[in-house]
Amino acid sequence: MRTKVTYSEWKKAQEWERNFWINDQIKKSKRFKNQIWHLLSLVNLVPEYRGDDWNLWWKEKFDNYSFLPTVIENAIEIGCGPYTNMRLILQQSQIKYVVLNDPLINIYNSFKKTIHSSSSFKGNIISDSHPFEVNPFKYNYFDLVVMINVLDHVQDATICMQEAIDITKLGGIFIFGQDLTNDEDEILLRNLEGDTAHPIKLNHNWVDSWLSNNFKILMKWILPKSEGRNPKAHYGTYIFAGIKIKSRLGNA
Ligand SMILES: C[S@@+](CC[C@H](N)C(=O)[O-])C[C@H]1O[C@@H](n2cnc3c(N)ncnc32)[C@H](O)[C@@H]1O
Repeated sequence: MRTKVTYSEWKKAQEWERNFWINDQIKKSKRFKNQIWHLLSLVNLVPEYRGDDWNLWWKEKFDNYSFLPTVIENAIEIGCGPYTNMRLILQQSQIKYVVLNDPLINIYNSFKKTIHSSSSFKGNIISDSHPFEVNPFKYNYFDLVVMINVLDHVQDATICMQEAIDITKLGGIFIFGQDLTNDEDEILLRNLEGDTAHPIKLNHNWVDSWLSNNFKILMKWILPKSEGRNPKAHYGTYIFAGIKIKSRLGNA
């Protein structure tokens, strides 16, 4: 297990991520494909937004987010990525104010046909580019906090997990998804892809230590290897949604 990496390792992982998504966008924009997509979306033949980073897969694992209330005041997605899970959550719940956080958000904001570039939500969606280790948000504030497929990309998973839990309001909902890595997977992953893109490796005991005491569980699964996104490399996938019932900071 590895919960923390050096700043230069994190920067390298971010550089990898940035290049990966820029190349994806270059492919997507070839031969007027974005313009064609836009026209098709006007007659409902395709969705409004283009692109998906396993978000539809997570949505299915989270039971289409059907446990969420229909109206939510304040929500944040930490490490939201280019295509976001929030775009699908917004199909289920009406959310008044949304924060999309990601250190690469300024790049993602330039991507076409995504929630970041959409004008429909201007004013109700705030972009935030802080690495979550230096979270700028008030504790016990958000009614919904989403952090899916992020912690193996950050510099310090312990600080990010603590901050994510702390900004969730008492009575608010925390949605968490994470590929799990054991010692055996770690060796295999190193041989398959090296450590550049995913330097942090977490197992279910580490995740349990954060989530088992502070939440009323709405949903908790550890998907077996065979049902994961990358069965070769991860022994399981942690799927969790819970209502925060305890705060180390009191009610403030
Ligand atoms: C694999 S992507 C997943 C994106 C999104 N959660 C999804 O499921 O589509 C991981 C994201 O975490 C972001 N990230 C990396 N370090 C971070 C940090 N310290 N704080 C917040 N986000 C971070 C990356 O920039 C990247 O966009």
